[in-house]
Amino acid sequence: MSSPVPSPARYTVTAALPYANGPVHIGHLAGVYIPADIYSRYLRLQGRDVAFICGSDEHGVPITIRADKEGITPQQVVDKYHAQIRDTFAGLGISFDIFSRTSHAVHHETSQQFFLTLHEKGLLEVRESEQFYDPARGQFLADRYILGECPNCHNPNAYGDQCERCGTSLSPEELINPRSALSGAVPEKRLTSHWYLPLDKYEPWLRSWILEGHKDDWRINVYGQCKSWIDQGLHPRAVTRDLDWGVPVPLPEGAGKVLYVWFDAPIGYISATREWAAHAGKNWEDYWKRPDTELIHFIGKDNIVFHCIIFPTMLHAEGSYILPKNVPANEFLNLEGEKISTSRNWAVWAHEYLEDLPGKEDVLRYVLCATAPETKDNDFTWKDFQTRNNSELVAILGNFVNRTLVLTQKFYDGRIPAYSPAPAPEADQALAAAIAGAPARIGQALEGYKFRDALTELLDLARLGNKYLADAEPWKTIKTDEARTAQVMHLAAQLTAALAVLMEPFLPFTATKLRQMLNLQGSFHWAQGGAIDLLRPGHALGQVGLLFEKIEDDTVERQIAKLQAMRTPAMTTEPTPIPAAAEAPAEPSFIGIEDFAKVQLKVATVLDAVPVPKADKLLQLTLDAGEPQPRTVLSGIAQHYTPEEVKGRQVVVVANLAPRKMRGIESQGMILMAEDPATGKLAFVSPTAVVPGGAEVR
Ligand code: MF3
Ligand code: ZN
Repeated sequence: MSSPVPSPARYTVTAALPYANGPVHIGHLAGVYIPADIYSRYLRLQGRDVAFICGSDEHGVPITIRADKEGITPQQVVDKYHAQIRDTFAGLGISFDIFSRTSHAVHHETSQQFFLTLHEKGLLEVRESEQFYDPARGQFLADRYILGECPNCHNPNAYGDQCERCGTSLSPEELINPRSALSGAVPEKRLTSHWYLPLDKYEPWLRSWILEGHKDDWRINVYGQCKSWIDQGLHPRAVTRDLDWGVPVPLPEGAGKVLYVWFDAPIGYISATREWAAHAGKNWEDYWKRPDTELIHFIGKDNIVFHCIIFPTMLHAEGSYILPKNVPANEFLNLEGEKISTSRNWAVWAHEYLEDLPGKEDVLRYVLCATAPETKDNDFTWKDFQTRNNSELVAILGNFVNRTLVLTQKFYDGRIPAYSPAPAPEADQALAAAIAGAPARIGQALEGYKFRDALTELLDLARLGNKYLADAEPWKTIKTDEARTAQVMHLAAQLTAALAVLMEPFLPFTATKLRQMLNLQGSFHWAQGGAIDLLRPGHALGQVGLLFEKIEDDTVERQIAKLQAMRTPAMTTEPTPIPAAAEAPAEPSFIGIEDFAKVQLKVATVLDAVPVPKADKLLQLTLDAGEPQPRTVLSGIAQHYTPEEVKGRQVVVVANLAPRKMRGIESQGMILMAEDPATGKLAFVSPTAVVPGGAEVR
């Protein structure tokens, strides 16, 4: 028998700091933020003391690359994306205690102090190495800033760290004819010196801490990656860089150098905790330095080495910090069978989801938790999204709640009937036992970071409820056996209340909605999700409505069409054009026939045209494009044509363009117009003979 493990006094839960260089997509949500949020909400419901920490990662080359791409400064990049990412998370109900940023002064100070402590303890090594240098710009070049021919596929524009055409990871030395992305100049090697964290010296410690200490409680994929890193031999890692964007090295001899982003970013968890604690009246050190605190890092698998090996080594070397208890890293989520790719724009962007499917935050949370890539890569498809909504959320959870509440209204005028007389029939005892055991069953799955299993348990409870009602048939017994009907409806109502408590970590918006319908006030402890007395006899329900709505085919079809329309084909991916490289010879940019084939052009007849109120450039056109329903398209031609001149014409429409809302009207396509470069006049592109609406243009 092992002695009972004392439960920790508090938890520090971190979610990987997203780079503030672009929006977050469903892969990030499924891999990191949704599980971390479910876990933190669950702990809070348990009455535990939790600090749920996140923020933007605002340093490093990813930021400067994005700045070059958009022609703005790195500061403008991080300001823009920090705000966008923060709002997106809030929109999805991710309940961080703080969402900070690594550009805050407290972070610069915390990370510099951390570096200085290691330096003063003599734990960092200074080494000289040769790095590529741009003689024209007078600066060292990060790998991303070196372009050249890929030795593998001969793409002339491969990056110094990776070829985006064939996917090979590269080092700048491997490129054929390397050139600077900043100036086009041939880079030369120059000597530079940096501070290194001697990971090799910590190998014995890492072996015992991870390979012996966490063999059984870390996920096998996490453990396996750590083991293979350690077995391959650890080497000193540079913790500084020759860059001008980042946290400055706090030593005179470090002038012009910054801390490596993977050194400063994880310290960002600590800085953010400090910032939060100062406002929340807490002591930040409790959350980072006390052994009765449990530190948990939620990350994606590409971050494993940093959170399991490098950051813990930093914490251990510094000496005053606790180490992560667990690092439940997820695998990757694919999209419609293909890898999610930012550069190819193959992603479902979270902020666009919130715009396109308002009110469906919990549907996304649900689907991403149900398909979370916990043990292997998994696939998100819009069809599966629709099916899970319609046949799980609507048909199981929503249906049970709705039947129960509607019948309660009908039979008892919306008041919970008393349960009498005892003793309870077997079916009731079984259901009550299932409810009573649910908090422990779901909780156990969550504490083992098995979020999909936990969600299945939750849904199974609603399934049981449906079966209970189907077997008991209260809609029939109401005419024959009032006492039995009251028992059934009482118990079914108690189950809806239990579900309202237990669904909160997963479906927080729906939980609020359901509690309003149940008129359940106050806050509940997780364990009360197993109670069968949350609703007193005679308790009056609130306003009852539907918890979930069916998602129709056209909604998901539009999303699929949008994905296809917005994607950038892999083979034509040009390297990021960097303004300063304009002198470099331009590559002709052809598209293949398969690219053209992606654009669906159709002839359409204009059935009607009307001006759009308060938009002096737009006409709203109703088109017959040979489809069952006429299409609405907004076209910016109002200053060139009157509605009368347009009606009856044949035009060419881009039929598979993602629909877009303007002035509250959804435009379902785009009309092709030819523009006279001298006068700016627009002319319609039309067939020279009348063809039926819907005829394809090829
Ligand atoms: N920004 C990194 C990424 O998106 C994650 C940083 S996690 C931290 O991959 F620990 F460094 F903060
Ligand atoms: Zn290549």
